[in-house]
Amino acid sequence: EKGGYEHFMLKEMYEQPKAIADTFSPRIKDGRIVIEELGMSEEEIRDIQKIMIVACGSASHVGYSGKYILEGLARIPVEVDMASEFRYRNPILDEHTLVIVVSQSGETADTLAALRESKKRGARVLGIVNVVGSSIAREADNVMYTWAGPEIAVATTKAYSAQLISMYLLAMKFAQVKGRLSEEETASMLEDLKALPAQVEMLLNNKENIQKFANRYLAAKDVFFIGRGIDHAISMEGSLKLKEISYIHSEAYAAGELKHGTISLVEEGTLVAAVLTQKELYKKMISNMEEVRTRGAFVMAVTCEGNTEVERAADYVIYIPETNPYFANSLAIIPLQLFAYYIAVGRGCDVDKPRNLAKSVTVE
Ligand code: F6R
Repeated sequence: EKGGYEHFMLKEMYEQPKAIADTFSPRIKDGRIVIEELGMSEEEIRDIQKIMIVACGSASHVGYSGKYILEGLARIPVEVDMASEFRYRNPILDEHTLVIVVSQSGETADTLAALRESKKRGARVLGIVNVVGSSIAREADNVMYTWAGPEIAVATTKAYSAQLISMYLLAMKFAQVKGRLSEEETASMLEDLKALPAQVEMLLNNKENIQKFANRYLAAKDVFFIGRGIDHAISMEGSLKLKEISYIHSEAYAAGELKHGTISLVEEGTLVAAVLTQKELYKKMISNMEEVRTRGAFVMAVTCEGNTEVERAADYVIYIPETNPYFANSLAIIPLQLFAYYIAVGRGCDVDKPRNLAKSVTVE
């Protein structure tokens, strides 16, 4: 049932081009974003004063990416919360708040409880859910399904990628309704969106190179992932993927924050994975990379084609194709998933079923 792949995780990584296409295709009609399941009139969309994205683990990382996109495109303030925290902090929300809960399984106990709490306080709840008919899908006011298909490996890959696409579509939809996205901008974004599946496929096919590189780091003790803005969100996901399946300690940091304490952990040979996909932040990122490199770090970079300047501050560079800056997360995550996967394989870990973890966390 692994379809010739060694692990479900690898199979599911390879299903990402399809998961991405299946999630956006039904929602693009004649050059417009149409999300019927949203069940919101244009007036209701214009009435949203605040969005709260609530989720756990990787799904919450989608929330952090979503915050940048929703705020950037639709100019609606967004808060992101871990579901386990949201419930107990007496959150401020009302009928003008849209709460978006993100969940692959649709059964995560804390996320479900956050959904119930939000409804009780009068907010509208939209679920971005993968499992059809799951508890969260049934209880949310509206559900936007990610069409990733069943995900077996404990570490999420294709559901995560499909969740990102849902965020892009929502942000574009809201921006359109608010008159913030011109027809030309929409057309160009849709073109970039449609190019993603083939670009992801191409990045997946670079797996041998990443495996070779990963094999040099099987004994790593600590790995730091750094990025700024939306690249910080993807760093969190890259770091979680690595630690959960390989058991190597890793952390994600907003690149500018590193020197406020954590940089003291960097020593000769420490691996630092830097993600820089946002042109206006290249220079700042390169100087952060130089900071760790002069302290002995080995720097691996994920950046966009053409940014060859990065090579002076990195020891190993993975290039991703050009796309809309808001969509770069969908490409940058691929080499990070492959890196985590091959480190775990090289260390002989149980990739699909890492110790202490369950596919769906139904206890609080
Ligand atoms: C990490 C991972 C977890 C889940 C989290 C939420 O690879 O899979 O962090 O993202 O447990 O699960 P769902 O999305 O089912 O609510």
